[in-house]
Amino acid sequence: MRISVIGAGYVGLTTAGCLAELGHDVFCAEADVQKLARLCAGELPFFEPNLDDLVQRNRAAGRLQFGSTEDAIDRGRAIFICVGTPPMENGEADLSAIESVARTIARRAQGYRLIVEKSTVPVQTGRQLRRHLALHSSSTLTYDVVSNPEFLREGTAVEDFFHPDRILVGVEDSRAAEAMHEIYRPVLERTVACPVHHSKDCMKQAKFVVTDTNSAELIKHASNSFLAMKISFINMVADLCEAAGADIGKVAEAVGLDPRIGSSFLQPGIGFGGFCFPKDLQAFVRIAEKFGCDFSLLKEVERINKNRVEKFVEKIKNELWVLRGKRICVWGLAFKPKTDDIRFAPALSVLRQLLAEGAQVQAYDPQAMAKAQLEIPDVTYCKDMYEAAVGAEAIVLLTEWDEFQGADWDLLSRLVQRPLLLDGRNTLSAEQVSACGFQYVGIGGISAMPKTHPQVADLAAEVHV
Ligand SMILES: NC(=O)c1ccc[n+]([C@@H]2O[C@H](COP(=O)([O-])OP(=O)(O)OC[C@H]3O[C@@H](n4cnc5c(N)ncnc54)[C@H](O)[C@@H]3O)[C@@H](O)[C@H]2O)c1
Repeated sequence: MRISVIGAGYVGLTTAGCLAELGHDVFCAEADVQKLARLCAGELPFFEPNLDDLVQRNRAAGRLQFGSTEDAIDRGRAIFICVGTPPMENGEADLSAIESVARTIARRAQGYRLIVEKSTVPVQTGRQLRRHLALHSSSTLTYDVVSNPEFLREGTAVEDFFHPDRILVGVEDSRAAEAMHEIYRPVLERTVACPVHHSKDCMKQAKFVVTDTNSAELIKHASNSFLAMKISFINMVADLCEAAGADIGKVAEAVGLDPRIGSSFLQPGIGFGGFCFPKDLQAFVRIAEKFGCDFSLLKEVERINKNRVEKFVEKIKNELWVLRGKRICVWGLAFKPKTDDIRFAPALSVLRQLLAEGAQVQAYDPQAMAKAQLEIPDVTYCKDMYEAAVGAEAIVLLTEWDEFQGADWDLLSRLVQRPLLLDGRNTLSAEQVSACGFQYVGIGGISAMPKTHPQVADLAAEVHV
């Protein structure tokens, strides 16, 4: 099918590349001229594993082209809207980019269009889109508006496209549902080889879920809010473990073994961030308010999450006392591993507070430093995790990249000024780092004194008594 994708961000570019991989003829539009120039020159404007190869291969095969929104609207029979829906001051989703695309469609398109709303939007946005098109389009335009929320995770976006748990479509009639089924048929019938594993055998059976548009829009917000709620829940349990002397690692593991609960999203840490959970949670609360429902449960989820950064900085101050003038090594800036996305990253909030307290920060992230540098220039950005540790009075882990699992702690103990690790994601082994002379401080009361430097252990124990 001739498909257009509007917006070449994390969702749009992944969708465009993956739809082309399925064999569709895809035209991807991007309004940011610099991004568009990079795409046309064969460069990706952001980092996402496996996406570069996929985009290059499909461009070379002539199945994927880039250009303007106007051209995209003229060419595509199906138009996937993948523009941003950032939060406004009051937490509501800003739908101006969606409205602008709708206006251009109404102005230009003729004949039939399947208009697919992939951006995350509040319930009843599809209805608004239909209303807008009915009011402003020419009499020659006929259309269906479909909600097809995206569930991909940055860092595994390509993999997620080919291995979805469900493909959700919200429609108002069966013609639109059939067209959506046709678009995703190779994934649903497992006739395409997954470009990550290079095999059809790894494909699992995805559910094709058809609902009305309101329900589909609401399912997306409800799903993200539920996951955010799990994270805030386990973070509160972590606080309780810390206060009561229980082990959050063991508690979370055993709680997660119950299949009714599940083990994912039960990892305590400095909280959730990124372009989805914080804004979707806020938008869901606001939309509920508009319909007269006080979703106070989610307000609390948000409040707990905001406190995580504060609490973690307190932890750093407990260990280092005064931060002014102290060198602190920060590992990880992206909002999660395997992405360069720093939008609403808790790591950046921690970083800003450390700087505000007068600390000298030396930071390293495998992918996110270029973006972080634009936002926070007053940091020494280092070429690797070891350079960032030189002369540091503490190593602070904020994003759990795999690379940090393989750190050489013996080498690090010789580079730092004080062997202290504060693990904001509870992902490193307290046992392993303390065996190399580091004091380990995690979340939820997980800590270990250095094993190879008894004098440091004695001192630290004294301070804690
Ligand atoms: N990032 C994720 O992990 C994720 C996952 C699921 C859903 N979503 C949702 O998908 C949507 C997009 O998210 P994203 O992370 O890809 O955002 P993004 O900011 O990375 O990408 C949006 C892109 O759209 C472009 N754009 C805006 N208006 C345009 C127009 N009129 N014509 C052409 N291009 C235009 C922007 O320049 C930008 O490059 C949001 O609603 C988000 O909530 C995101």
